[in-house]
Amino acid sequence: MKIAPSVMCADFARLGEQIKELEAAGADLLHFDVMDNHFVPNLTFGPMIVEACRPLSRLPFYAHLMVERPETLIEATVKAGADSVGVHVEATAHLHRLVQQIKGTGASACVALNPATPVSLIEPIIEEIDTVLVMSVNPGWAGQAFIPASLERVRAIAEMAAAKSAQAEILVDGGITEANIGDLCQAGMTGAVIGSHLFQEGRSLRDVIRALREAAG
Ligand code: DX5
Ligand code: ZN
Repeated sequence: MKIAPSVMCADFARLGEQIKELEAAGADLLHFDVMDNHFVPNLTFGPMIVEACRPLSRLPFYAHLMVERPETLIEATVKAGADSVGVHVEATAHLHRLVQQIKGTGASACVALNPATPVSLIEPIIEEIDTVLVMSVNPGWAGQAFIPASLERVRAIAEMAAAKSAQAEILVDGGITEANIGDLCQAGMTGAVIGSHLFQEGRSLRDVIRALREAAG
């Protein structure tokens, strides 16, 4: 089970230190939430921040592009240091082309699904992608409540992948805590994006990651 801290929830006044702390605390990869205030009603950061963090960590960097016209940001995001680039099914009419574009850069291809998007939309392409990112909140903000129906969606995607012998990892993003991580693992999740729950006052990153791994079973 991979633990993927969401960098947007870090303390940006000391981002460099936090990047190093996350690796030391046992994170498996870092998740970068790129928001453009168009695809989602919030604005975070782009390739510049990915590039600034790149020399500070050896962990894989996964960029989650919550942007319109993702095709215009893929190359810059990979050049900045992303090992995996995630695009939303809802942000393009040409998902197959986008996935090929990502793979053409040498990065891993991730496809993200909003909570109300039928999981069947990725069925024709599941063998082509490295990661499925199942949104368990509506993208835009950290700190939202987990949508319980996500559990069934993870199960359906895991079954779809197994039926086709597809190797895609299944990451889940939004509202994950010790209370739901065990059920998600049982449903077939292979990695959890953890945002607000990780950065708690009075609890170290290491302690929270350890507790999440225990709860994951
Ligand atoms: C939501 C982002 C998530 C978010 C997760 O739009 O894609 O990665 O930062 O944060 P939590 O774990 O607080 O829901
Ligand atoms: Zn995300």
